Amino acid sequence: MDDFLAADNLSKRFDGVQAVDSVSFAIRSQEIFGLLGPNGAGKTTTIRMLSTVLAPDGGDVEIGGYSVTRESDEVRKRIGVCPQELALYPELSASDNLVFFGRMAGLSGREAKSLAADTLERVGLADRAKDAVRKYSGGMKRRVNIAIALMSRPQLLFLDEPTVGIDPQSRNHIFDTVLALRGEGMTVLYTTHYMEEADRLCDRIGVMDNGRLIALGAPAELKAQVGDPATTTLEEVFLNFTGRSLRD
Ligand SMILES: Nc1ncnc2c1ncn2[C@@H]1O[C@H](COP(=O)(O)OP(=O)(O)OP(=O)(O)O)[C@@H](O)[C@H]1O
Ligand SMILES: [Mg+2]
Repeated sequence: MDDFLAADNLSKRFDGVQAVDSVSFAIRSQEIFGLLGPNGAGKTTTIRMLSTVLAPDGGDVEIGGYSVTRESDEVRKRIGVCPQELALYPELSASDNLVFFGRMAGLSGREAKSLAADTLERVGLADRAKDAVRKYSGGMKRRVNIAIALMSRPQLLFLDEPTVGIDPQSRNHIFDTVLALRGEGMTVLYTTHYMEEADRLCDRIGVMDNGRLIALGAPAELKAQVGDPATTTLEEVFLNFTGRSLRD
């Protein structure tokens, strides 16, 4: 399988904190790749560098064959980003939020409206499309945020902790959406600190801790490095590689 993303020795330091430390990994086309790690591990900083938001101090990334540092415009045409913090206009309806971001991505008004309707259908919000987003639950807002990231019809979608603090129904909708997108040929990078979620959803996983990538592989491969893959959990994998529990 081809690599769609290849990160080579990415590093980023913020006054005194080595947030990301020489991280290298590849994501294959049409794979759901999970970036796992506890709070402060460096997941968001990594995503921000991969998605051209933040310049690395060192290293580079190729996405679809283009360099994030030297060809960032080409990279931006190919990616969609759903940030960890919600980025929505609460007074606008879900539909109007999507149309706005679609126009920003260069779509005509007609294209944006048609794609907004399709995309809200896909995240299970078609029946609430005309309601102001401020009336939505946290999980529904999160699904609108994902829908916005899909408005540019990306080949690679970044989802930064899409399921934190949301209801089970929205969580299941998000799982279904991510799996359907992969089925249509999209590549997805997903961050979470829920190990069981990554186990269920991701084809391969990179485990981060203190800015470093400490393990990389399919869930079953990582478990096999630690014990019997049938009974070992990813929590135990994390404990084995770091010497401490994920929830400490
Ligand atoms: N803009 C910034 N300025 C200073 N320090 C930062 C900045 N962004 C991140 N950091 C620090 O870098 C480290 C990694 O943070 P990052 O947000 O990448 O972690 P994370 O794995 O996404 O954590 P979380 O699970 O809490 O979202 C942390 O120590 C954080 O405090
Ligand atoms: Mg984060």
